[in-house]
Formats: sequence, C-alpha cells, structure tokens
Amino acid sequence: MLIVGGGIAAYKALELIRQLRAKGASVRCILTAGGAEFVTALSLSSLSGDKVYGDLFNLTDEAEMGHIELSRDADLLVVAPATANLLAKMTSGIADDLATTALLATDKPVLCAPAMNVRMWLHPATQRNVRALRADGVSFVGPDEGDMACGEFGPGRLAEPPAIVEAIGEMLAAGDKARPLAGTRVLVTSGPTHEPIDPVRYLANRSSGKQGHAIAAACARAGAEVVLISGPVALPDPQGVLTIHVETAREMLTATEEALPADVAIFAAAVADWRPDREGDAKIKKTQGAATPDLSLTENPDILATIGARKKARPKLVIGFAAETNDVVANATAKRTRKGADWILANDVSPASGVMGGDLNTIHLVTADGVEDWPRMGKDAVADELAQRIADAIGDRRTAGAVKA
Ligand code: C5P
Repeated sequence: MLIVGGGIAAYKALELIRQLRAKGASVRCILTAGGAEFVTALSLSSLSGDKVYGDLFNLTDEAEMGHIELSRDADLLVVAPATANLLAKMTSGIADDLATTALLATDKPVLCAPAMNVRMWLHPATQRNVRALRADGVSFVGPDEGDMACGEFGPGRLAEPPAIVEAIGEMLAAGDKARPLAGTRVLVTSGPTHEPIDPVRYLANRSSGKQGHAIAAACARAGAEVVLISGPVALPDPQGVLTIHVETAREMLTATEEALPADVAIFAAAVADWRPDREGDAKIKKTQGAATPDLSLTENPDILATIGARKKARPKLVIGFAAETNDVVANATAKRTRKGADWILANDVSPASGVMGGDLNTIHLVTADGVEDWPRMGKDAVADELAQRIADAIGDRRTAGAVKA
C-alpha cells in the first residue's frame, strides 16, 4: 500500500510504483488531498494497474472494501512522500482522512520516506515526531541531502526510488521470517467434548483447551490461516483464528472434515472415547426405590485416526497428542502408528503433573525418527515451539520431499 502525501516529491512516487511492479510487487495507492495537488489519481492507477483510494467517506469504496480492510490487505504500508504534516498526524494518532485512518488502523509494518524543506525536517517538532514514530516501530528511509525544489540545500529530499525499493524488500523479507507459516492452512481441534446423557446431563473430561487454543494462536501469529474446532471451553476465541464451536465428538468430526483441505492438522482436543449409547429425550427422573439408571456406552469416532487414514485430502502433517498417566513415551510411540499420525506430542497428565488445567506442560515429541524430550515450559511456549517445528518441517518437505521432525 503506497500512501502518497502532498509534496513536490510526489512525482517520484510514479517511478517508485514502476520499479516496485517491475520487481513483481502489487501496489495499491491512497492519494491524500495534498498529494492530489501534485500527481493525479489517473497517473497512479495507470502505473499501479489498480484503483486509487482517496476519500474516507466514499460510500462506493466503503461497500467494495472497508477502510479497515484496506489498511490490512497489504503486506506493508509505505508513505512516500511522508510530509511533515503526515508525520505529525501519525505521531498523534490523528485520523482525519483515509491515509491517516489506514495508518492508524493497520496491523502491518509501516515505512516512511520523508520529504520536506530542510528547516521543516530539522525542526525540533519533526525530529521529535520521527523519534516517537521510530519508538512505535515505524521504519524510515531517507531523507537524502541535496538541492531542494524550494532552492535551499540540506536534508529533506525524498530518498531515490531504488533506495525505497531496497528498504521495502528488506522489510518484506524480515516479515516473511517472522511469519514462517504464511500461506499454510492449519486445522486445530481443542478442548473436551460433551456427550449428552439426557437434555441436562453429559459426560465430559477435565481438558481446559489451553494447549490447543495456544497452538491455534501461535500458528496464526506465525502467519497461518487457522481453523480451530473447539469443544466447550471457558476461553475466548483466539485472535485472528476462525473458531468453530462444537459439543460432541461426532460434531467435532463433521466440522473437522468440513474444514479440510488443510496442510497441517493438530488434534489437541481431549475427545471423549465413549458416549452414552442412547440420549434420552427427557430428563431421567430419580424415582424413590427405583434402580439407578444403567448407562451403557458406545464408542465415539476417532477423529485423529479417521483423518490420519484418509487417502484423499489427508493433511501433509498430521499431529496428535497422547495424554498419558503412565508409560508416556511407550504409549505415545504405539499411538503414532496406530492412529496414522506423523507426530505425537506426548505428555504426562497424571494428577501430580498439574498439566490438566494448568499453564505448564512437559512434552515428548515422537516422530518416525525417534523421541525428543522438551524441557518443562509454558503452554504458550510449547505452542510457539510447535509452530516453528511445523514451519521447519514444511520448509524441509518443500525442498527434500519428506516431512521431518
Ligand atoms: O487414544 P487417545 O485418546 O489417547 O488419543 C489422543 C489423540 O487422539 C489426541 O490427539 C486426540 O485429539 C485424538 N483423538 C481424536 N478422537 C478421539 C480420541 C482421540 O481425535 N475420539
């Protein structure tokens, strides 16, 4: 997203668009009212090959793509030229036009290429604003020193387009590193399931969903498109994750199958192995002197095993959990083969471990290559580590054709 501010250097934005497109970038422009005094929307759209946005209150634009969406649709926001006025507004969070609103609403990195008169650049107010913006994480390229259009000499010239293109390239590369799962679709199951006995009672387990939800959030932070299929939990839906709420194992299986295809599937849910074989339509009554109800159980579908055994649309990486109270690694190793999983994350959930409902976890990663013992760490750290491992394995598979731990 290129935001063109109001200064004579706006003419260089045209060349910048040309060079960015030559490198294969898509460029969409926001032209400020000041910028439109120097270059036309027609020039920008001819070179960018896209619509040019200009007015915050344009209802046609808003219906096509809202201003918030517009600010997040890009990988990077570049302000060139960034005038003293734009920098001041950005510092204060003023949002009185589309450009400043997009800059305030975005969740993407921002690069400013300042251009202004030398006195304006050196003014303590502008220098203070630049320091504040840097502290907020905004990056800068330029300004260069030299002759100015106003006849003065000094720092304030817009950086040349090749230098801006290079800075953009560096920022995009750094972004890719921070988002190693970008372009990957990840499915996660989490939480317990509730298996109804009658309309008011159910069978459940002690799963909190903390680990599964943390994994979904970590994969989303790493850039993946995440679908989380959650049983009943007392947790908020993780940010940036499409969360589907289910109650029973059978609903979880249906939702999981509907969410395919995915590149990676992580089965962190504590799915009930059995359910009452009949769900009464009415509440079972306690009648004095009568026998206690006979609860007979039937087996639930095994979601992990069902997906692990798929021939069609099997995710390239199928990951299960093995919550065990004894012989943790031996049970997990057998489970990996039995369920057709690529990896199993085994953990000890015996009451003494404090894992169930707690914030810490001790993981043993079981793969075809063997077992790796991870140190005891927070469930968020486990999730970040797993996201990184998945990214490494997917990267290896892309280059070597096989999934590795
Ligand atoms: O056999 P066990 O329940 O210990 O297996 C645990 C693993 O299998 C977990 O990854 C869990 O999410 C998954 N699972 C499942 N469907 C079931 C039972 C377990 O997906 N019905």
